[in-house]
Amino acid sequence: MDGTMIPPPEESGAAAVPWLVRLPGLFDGFAGDVLASLGAAPVKRLGQEYHWIRLSHPAALRESEASIFLRWNLPLEHAWPCQPAKIEGFIEKAAQTLKAKFGDRAPQGVFVGALHPTSPDRYFRHFAANLRGRLVQLFPEGTAKAVEDQEPDRATLFVLVGKEGLYAGMATPREANGFYPGGSRYIAQHESDTISRAGAKIAEAIHYLRLHRPPFAPGSHWLELGACPGGMTSELLARGQKVTAIDRAPLDPRLAGKAGLTFVLDDVARFEAPPGVVYDAMLDDMNGPPEESIVQVVRLSRFLKPGGVVVFTLKVPRMESVSGPVTLLRETIFNARRAGLHLIARTHLTYNRHEFTLFFEKPPTVS
Ligand SMILES: C[S@@+](CC[C@H](N)C(=O)[O-])C[C@H]1O[C@@H](n2cnc3c(N)ncnc32)[C@H](O)[C@@H]1O
Repeated sequence: MDGTMIPPPEESGAAAVPWLVRLPGLFDGFAGDVLASLGAAPVKRLGQEYHWIRLSHPAALRESEASIFLRWNLPLEHAWPCQPAKIEGFIEKAAQTLKAKFGDRAPQGVFVGALHPTSPDRYFRHFAANLRGRLVQLFPEGTAKAVEDQEPDRATLFVLVGKEGLYAGMATPREANGFYPGGSRYIAQHESDTISRAGAKIAEAIHYLRLHRPPFAPGSHWLELGACPGGMTSELLARGQKVTAIDRAPLDPRLAGKAGLTFVLDDVARFEAPPGVVYDAMLDDMNGPPEESIVQVVRLSRFLKPGGVVVFTLKVPRMESVSGPVTLLRETIFNARRAGLHLIARTHLTYNRHEFTLFFEKPPTVS
């Protein structure tokens, strides 16, 4: 599906289905345009970042370029708009209703999140934890599973609660675009003395990538373009990865002499891998025009192993409309594809600001 507008349900004639989507607050200025591009009719705003919508073409969530603005999505199979705090025995009633409705479908796990995840009021986070505790008792098989143990392509029951009520549905983590209700969430960095916020970004990106690929083997060798001051480098090393990092500026002195690290102080445009060296993964977080960054990724992809991955931060100069970021996204994917790099996923991570994270793969058969 290209960037063309999908007609809203009332014009398309197709039956519209209810869906819950999470659209980061950063895109609030043009949220209506994002939803319109997906052919969605808004029903109600829920919590901080959730939108209850009706969709005539749910495939748009996977195929439309505008879906890059959505962090997470769920078919809304059960909606109970209410004020939970005012309903006596709400947790038990909600748990029994969910069991009656979804019990036969044997979800691989049941996870409950808050519609207002960053609210300082902890009431609904406790509420979510208590509801999950009761659901784990009611759904016998698989539900005590930790988030990390889920299979990306088996259906999970996701539930969200907040002062606007309770909303639930089943989807695989891959379809929903995250293992947690609402997407990904804070992934602890390994280093306590973190060098930059970017360390959290690569930690989250690696977690997210498990939706699409097995985890990286210990000792995988990364080529990192634009590494200074070294938050991502530090995080990769702490995860037992090897890193060849390139930057025009020096790394934080705390990284000096770290095992597994090779640092090249130079312009990425001049870098050539030493003879015989190939990399398992490439990471690009260079600032500057993304059109130039992707040229370097494409040039250096000949040093990537077949089946190797590229994690690419697409930095968007202006995040004011649907069309600007989408055009840049389309051009970047097109340029990568010409070099044989296939897009396997794209998302907006919790730690992304005016940027998206794209994941490319070099096909296993191309040398
Ligand atoms: C946003 S910072 C990277 C932050 C880093 N990922 C971290 O975890 O700390 C961007 C870096 O890209 C580097 N950079 C941009 N263009 C470059 C080029 N052509 N050659 C080398 N380094 C470049 C800049 O020097 C800068 O340090």
